[in-house]
Amino acid sequence: MSERRRGNGTGLPATAKIPFGGDYNPEQWPEEVWTDDYRLFDAAGIDTVTLGVFTWALTQPAPDVYDFSTLDRIVGRAGAEGRSICLATGTGAHPPWLARAFPEVTRTDFEGRRHRYGQRHNSCPSSPAFRRLSTEVARRIAARYAGNSAVVAWHVGNEYGGACYCDLCAAGFRTWLRRRYGTLDALNAAWYTTFWSHTFTAWEEIEPPSALTEHWRGPNHTAFQGITLDYLRFMSDAMLANFRDEKAAIRESSDLPVTTNFMGMYRPIDYHRWAAHLDFVSWDNYPPDDRSPAWMALAHDLMRGSADGQPFWLMEQTPSYTASRDVNPLKRPGVMRLWSWQAVAHGADSVLFFQMRASRGACEKYHGAVIGHAGRADTRVFREVAALGAELARLGGAVLGARTPARVALLFDWDSWWALEISDGPSRLVRYQQVVLAYHRALWDAGADVDVVGVTAELSRYDVVVAPALHMLKGDLPQRLEAVAARGGSVVTTFLSGRVDEHDNAFLMDVPGPLAPLMGIRIDEWDAREPAVVNPVRLTAGTDEVEVGSRLVFELVIPQGAEVVGTYRADFYAGTPAVTRHTFGAGHGWYVAAGLDQEGVSWVVRRILDQHDLLGPYPDVPELETAVRVAPDGSRLRFLLNHGAQPVTVPAHRAGSDLLSGDGVEHGQPITLDPYGVMVLRERG
Ligand code: GLA
Ligand code: ZN
Repeated sequence: MSERRRGNGTGLPATAKIPFGGDYNPEQWPEEVWTDDYRLFDAAGIDTVTLGVFTWALTQPAPDVYDFSTLDRIVGRAGAEGRSICLATGTGAHPPWLARAFPEVTRTDFEGRRHRYGQRHNSCPSSPAFRRLSTEVARRIAARYAGNSAVVAWHVGNEYGGACYCDLCAAGFRTWLRRRYGTLDALNAAWYTTFWSHTFTAWEEIEPPSALTEHWRGPNHTAFQGITLDYLRFMSDAMLANFRDEKAAIRESSDLPVTTNFMGMYRPIDYHRWAAHLDFVSWDNYPPDDRSPAWMALAHDLMRGSADGQPFWLMEQTPSYTASRDVNPLKRPGVMRLWSWQAVAHGADSVLFFQMRASRGACEKYHGAVIGHAGRADTRVFREVAALGAELARLGGAVLGARTPARVALLFDWDSWWALEISDGPSRLVRYQQVVLAYHRALWDAGADVDVVGVTAELSRYDVVVAPALHMLKGDLPQRLEAVAARGGSVVTTFLSGRVDEHDNAFLMDVPGPLAPLMGIRIDEWDAREPAVVNPVRLTAGTDEVEVGSRLVFELVIPQGAEVVGTYRADFYAGTPAVTRHTFGAGHGWYVAAGLDQEGVSWVVRRILDQHDLLGPYPDVPELETAVRVAPDGSRLRFLLNHGAQPVTVPAHRAGSDLLSGDGVEHGQPITLDPYGVMVLRERG
């Protein structure tokens, strides 16, 4: 069966409203309890359940035994209760018998230790036994339940990730390399193996880069970046092949949409290479701490960008707390609702939780759940979930399929992320995510809608393209960035950009390599210092002048036509450029040569947004986030999200009505958002 897209044209499951619910694992408790579960689901407006995520040992209890009796009852009950089902293949954790029968299915770690049975997300992606049997169980599940009208989507595996360094993966790596390079000559050139006498004369000589081979200290310290980079690419592709195996098996009997749950900014998996193989993107939102609206905004924008701007599903979030961190803070009253709406504001067409009912034992027994161990409906968390369920029911289908009308793109590139962080020099302290986050935060604070996209994305629809730490330049990207500026757009890039080609070999030209014509500069040398060392940078535009800090990396810039916007204030390079702007065609190339602090990044970004009239309506109201989605019927929905613990009052930007309260507002009328409050204004005119 071909890769067919669903009737709504988006690849997403066809639903009448935003699906609300999440992971439900009733195989873990007695069937009598299911009745309570559904009673509580009714009370909370739960209409969608993800079933079977960890059921492999249940559906295939022995090598030659498939037993769907329990899953039949679970799926049957959900259907009978009128719920939509996102049905998993259950291959995120393999059963103990599988590891015993086929020791190859367990992974070998970075230190070379062959693991024995344990944990989850634990299968060697190259194991023929794993590939065959995971595909077979997916095939059987799809064949069995494809005709069930309650099933709306397939959920393959779970949170693919990690890495394996076993001999099967080594063989898979060699096959992958043969396909990529064709000849050992090409591979030796790409990996620069003349250095340290590494010239390979047979494919069998190539080993996975690990603690036993090229690495010391850990996965980021490698003698050969080219080898390590290719292994990262290979591992991501190897797990993608696992996903594709199962998807193909599902396609034999169903053309319903297939997804797997991504994890946002997750380094081991290149989601840009994966997303094209999913019918729709979904992801699990577990921010690093309880003050993460900027981080989440970036992650949502990245997930939507990976889906080529289509809406995505929010597959998991905790209603209250996680269990996996050392310290697991509780979401404050209103925060679960606020963060759910933030996801929708950034393109989510579902609001799903992990999990519906708390597990009684094992490592997630203290993980938050809609229904706790006592099974009560009168808890704060349950009440908040139920209130959100009612709100989503009132909203109906107004948001479904709505697109983000962004005119700003931020380039995100897994290859650059990997190359930057496995590099020896200039500084181990530069973290790709932090650089990207600073630039995204500046855009987000200013109220711009941003598409976070891969480096092959179509750039012609954007006025501003921001490319933080674009370490690696591939293909025709420099020309496409030049085209953005030539037609009047602005392109921004930073220190450590334009350094290496796709093999992580330096360009034999001035830094920033092929970006130099657009930026109108050359980097002569660079300095890296401990975080305590701050070099003040004076930023000037007309009468507007500020002094901000910069840290970690300081590139020394020699303008080649660019004008100077900011200068270093300290050290032997005091007075030399730290920020430049180059006129290129009808637009500009901006270069930020140092690790400016947030204030400095925001200053630069706001100047650019302002020039393109892209500042949001409330750029100076801290904690107030706005985001826009345009529905398929053309209506413009502006989400207002108050991340602060104080109420916020602002004048309405346009006349419209709040889809949550039903209240109308006139242009300029003061509107007040409660602490953690949300409005979804359908704007008129
Ligand atoms: C992940 C997994 C779930 C569960 C949650 C807990 O997202 O997919 O199975 O472990 O984390 O936060
Ligand atoms: Zn392996």
